[in-house]
Amino acid sequence: MCGIIGYIGNRHVTPLLLEGLKRMEYRGYDSAGVAVMNGSGVETRKAAGKISQLERALVTSPVDGDMGIGHTRWATHGVPNECNAHPHVDCKGDIAVVHNGIIENSGTLKQGLQARGHRFVYLIEEAFDGNLEDAVIEALWQIEGTYGIAVVSSKDRNKIVAARKGSPLLIGLGDGEYYVASDVSAILAHTREVVYLDDGDVAILTREGYTVLNQRAQELERRVSKIDWDLDQIERGGFDHFMLKEIFEQPATVENCMRGRLLPDEGTSKLGGLNMTDEELLRFDNILITACGTSWHSALIGEHMLESLARVPVEVEYASELRYRNPIVTDKTLCIVISQSGETADTLAAMREAKARGARTYGIVNVVGSTIARESDGGIYVHAGPEIGVASTKAFTSQVIALLLFTLKLARLRTLSMVDGKAIIEEMQALPGKIQNILDRADEIEKIAEEFKNSQNFLYLGRGYSFPTALEGALKLKEISYIHAEGYPAAEMKHGPIALIDEKMPVVFITPHDSVFDKVVSNVQEVKARGGRVIAITTREEDALEGKLDYEFRIPETKDMLTPVLASVPLQLLAYYMAVKRGTNVDQPRNLAKSVTVE
Ligand code: G6P
Repeated sequence: MCGIIGYIGNRHVTPLLLEGLKRMEYRGYDSAGVAVMNGSGVETRKAAGKISQLERALVTSPVDGDMGIGHTRWATHGVPNECNAHPHVDCKGDIAVVHNGIIENSGTLKQGLQARGHRFVYLIEEAFDGNLEDAVIEALWQIEGTYGIAVVSSKDRNKIVAARKGSPLLIGLGDGEYYVASDVSAILAHTREVVYLDDGDVAILTREGYTVLNQRAQELERRVSKIDWDLDQIERGGFDHFMLKEIFEQPATVENCMRGRLLPDEGTSKLGGLNMTDEELLRFDNILITACGTSWHSALIGEHMLESLARVPVEVEYASELRYRNPIVTDKTLCIVISQSGETADTLAAMREAKARGARTYGIVNVVGSTIARESDGGIYVHAGPEIGVASTKAFTSQVIALLLFTLKLARLRTLSMVDGKAIIEEMQALPGKIQNILDRADEIEKIAEEFKNSQNFLYLGRGYSFPTALEGALKLKEISYIHAEGYPAAEMKHGPIALIDEKMPVVFITPHDSVFDKVVSNVQEVKARGGRVIAITTREEDALEGKLDYEFRIPETKDMLTPVLASVPLQLLAYYMAVKRGTNVDQPRNLAKSVTVE
């Protein structure tokens, strides 16, 4: 949410900043700007809208130098216009600041500063006495809330000062050049060596090196990490959109998540980052899973798996709700935290809250080195690779796999037999091929999308494991096509949504041949009897459904707990093709951001 980039070295900085901002545009695309240091001091260019607008502004009014900072914004406070775009510059035009996060005491600060003829962002100017890092540190002491910042000043040039609290920030190391960025994708074209900053860190970057201080100006040691992603992983590779590329990557990403973690002969899994002995795992008397958005949907699938296979009580809670309740969490609670980005503010806060109450935390995270990954007691990377499309796809299916790997481990220690464990593993190994089978028939889904592209509403219904799949299908559609869609447990339909059904209402049923199939058939009948149009995701020819479906898409059969992985793929494709046909911006849907680092 909002992206920061900074560079100091000897190259032309403007193209570097623009390139970094474009790679982070998924973090926010309301407005953007750069501040560049050159012979004239600090010069800024800003524009409302996407990075392409900023690019245009830079053609009309070029600026360059060999160091500078840039920002792409997802508006929280203040409308997304040019004036509110970052960087913000002080009264004299000497200091430029880019900022992510929310300053909670901004109201108080603003009043105080206005009285002295300044505006809020000029705290640093007030504190400046020739040394930029000292001024930044002094200003930070006055701030309450979250931030990731990068600052430059023409009065203490040849350095960038950056700081973080609650908003991700890392330093990229080059040869005589250094970067600061919110996300590694912004700088991956130039360096693979990074230093992740921790909350409370202040970093000073010069052409000669970097230093990390705490807020008492004491020097800190920070580990250098090596990034093993490839540049082509963050590019579209011939696909029209990142989302489509990411949907099509799923045979490989699901495989990556399982790689080296299955023990087929023992019917269990091997989880390197668990950091818990079998005895410790058996000590928990309940599991709490917390997440937001799509990750919350995978949590619901995890709940089902853990309860039925490991026979342990599981509760799933939205992170944003959990943190403001008084949850029953003890040192016998295992808190599983699921997050693609590993940076979602609510999820991180919920994890910290659970930890503070004595729970052990286990992170299921995609982004390597992210805060949740670093702060959880143990964890598993889902290894889906960079997910750039704002609507999550491949991270979701990999989260389900990671949850099943964990379930296998715990269930085999508790109640699951080796024979049953082996049978599950066999099915898991067959998944990549089965996903590919679905992708090979994407054109069938495209035809369905053509038929329904003008619909105003959609209902997604499923039962058992297919209920979270229905929620996820509906979320995908609303996120990128802006069609109102609701996911519902199929049998609950008759307690409300059934009133909405008429010939204009498409209803997507997720009806694999599983343990609740017969029940869902009755729900299909109820919809048909009221003139609704039924699109069904099925697994085989079913006499019971004969004549009741308007459209049908078959997915390969698998075990019940794995159907969400297969059934969600055609639903992702349906949302994708609907959005494309409606002309929306698939990878950057309006008002959304990939990583929500504010409350
Ligand atoms: C945002 C994204 C969603 C994502 C959610 C949780 O809303 O647009 O796609 O599911 O955040 O993100 P996380 O990174 O914690 O999984």
